[in-house]
Amino acid sequence: MSKSYYITTAIDYVNGQPHLGHAYEKLITDVISRARRSLGDDVFFLTGLDEHGQKVQQAAAAEGKGAQAYCDELAASWKALWVRLQLTNNDFIRTTDVRHKSVVQAILTKLHREGHFYPEEHQGFYSTRQETFLTDKDRLPDGSFDPIYGEVVELVEENYYFRLREHQQWLIDYIEANPEFIYPSYRRNEILGFLRSQPLEDLCITRPKARLEWGIPVPFDDKFVTYVWFDALVNYLTVPAALGDPVVSAALGVNFGSPQDGVGGGPSLWPADAHVIGKDIIKFHAVFWPIMLKAMGLPLPKQILVHGWWQKDGQKISKSTGNIVDPVAVIDEWGVDAFRFYVTRELDLGPDGNWTDAGFQARYASELANGLGNLVNRSLSMLKRYRNGVVPSRSDELAPEANRLIAETISNLRAYRLQSALQSIWSLVTRANQYVDQTAPFKLAKDPTQAARLDEVLYNLAETCRILAVLLWPFLPGTSGKIFAQLELKEDSSRMIGVEWGHLKHGHVIGEPAPLFPRKDQPKAESK
Ligand code: MSP
Repeated sequence: MSKSYYITTAIDYVNGQPHLGHAYEKLITDVISRARRSLGDDVFFLTGLDEHGQKVQQAAAAEGKGAQAYCDELAASWKALWVRLQLTNNDFIRTTDVRHKSVVQAILTKLHREGHFYPEEHQGFYSTRQETFLTDKDRLPDGSFDPIYGEVVELVEENYYFRLREHQQWLIDYIEANPEFIYPSYRRNEILGFLRSQPLEDLCITRPKARLEWGIPVPFDDKFVTYVWFDALVNYLTVPAALGDPVVSAALGVNFGSPQDGVGGGPSLWPADAHVIGKDIIKFHAVFWPIMLKAMGLPLPKQILVHGWWQKDGQKISKSTGNIVDPVAVIDEWGVDAFRFYVTRELDLGPDGNWTDAGFQARYASELANGLGNLVNRSLSMLKRYRNGVVPSRSDELAPEANRLIAETISNLRAYRLQSALQSIWSLVTRANQYVDQTAPFKLAKDPTQAARLDEVLYNLAETCRILAVLLWPFLPGTSGKIFAQLELKEDSSRMIGVEWGHLKHGHVIGEPAPLFPRKDQPKAESK
């Protein structure tokens, strides 16, 4: 079976409701997945939830719920939001899934057997309130610990450690030899700087059950559960393993696929093509994860795509201060495509971004309503009015520009330049709107001697609308479908291969035009 394009997101902690940051990451991954599918690739897109660990255990306890029941409730609301955002994920992993526990335990057993772990006692200062070990950096100038830590006790704790240090030089060499491994390049430089500047500390991969129960039991020592990050990173392998991916099944010596598949007879997913993550968790993905994979004998993912963080109104997004953007509220008011458009248009994959309601509304009004919406509506309305909706014979006036912008959009999409892809698409929107103003079809319609010219203009506009619908599908799937419906095209708008100029047939009859993005600028009182 040929290898699928396999792309993943970070799996979110389930200790609260999703906000803009979580939604953004899933959306850019969805746009990339849809774009690849549209270009003919077989894509597998995975997202899910990270449900173990102290944060979740504490959050459940605070609500007086059992951890599993708490996770089940929240998982339902996360999944529902992803459906509203029209994510096209192929699977949804929860780290409390039985399949995940089996894979984590198989990996722990293998790595332990092969000598990658060792037990060691650690002595340190432990805050029971925060359930964490403190270091000298946490001390106040007078040497005491801040009262936020509550009672601090000196404690000796035994745990298992994963030998990372012996792989450090290999990892540096790998990142140097594979410049595309971490994207964008400034994140790669950051990781190389970190790796070159200090010896890696071995990774503590267990937590004693005595202080944390909510985790995957360690198969070779029942006093421990698995450290939540070791557990979480493995999610990227769980689904391939569970489906019987040949590479993963062979390396781990396991097969969770259905018996009729035979050993490793499932789809070919590993190595992942891209892990999409935020800048705060790069060390886990670009340092710990590659070393874990190397120890397992598995190839590394091709790329780690590191996105920036959103703020709102220049401040950190924070539930406690109420500075949040609730994706559900935005979608309720403006529609899902407006949300999908703003976050991908406003922020490129890499730098940090800033949400402002005014910025959102400005883009809605100028780019969606007045730009795209107006173009499609007036183009199709004029075709309806002047030609009864019948497509005139082919004319290629805008073809060179449209074909150039199609090629540019595709190459931007392939290179993960989503913001630039939208800019390319909007160059075509702007060009076609100018074309309406320059050719003035409403004037041509008044002059019978200009009938042939009007035909040309109307063909160019309708064909541009068709192309725009196809290019927009990864970003604005609903709008794309509406444009096709208004054009009365029965096929799917999700195929970018062969989108080039000239598909709209002479004599085809279009459907009913309708506004795509209702203008929102009327004062509220008018609607009463
Ligand atoms: N559970 C871990 C990830 C494990 S992956 C094997 C985790 N969860 S998280 O819920 O805290 O964050 C999930 C993702 O959302 C991360 O990639 C994080 O960077 C991203 N974001 C969280 N807040 C964000 C913003 N304000 N802006 C953009 N992305 C943000 O970390």
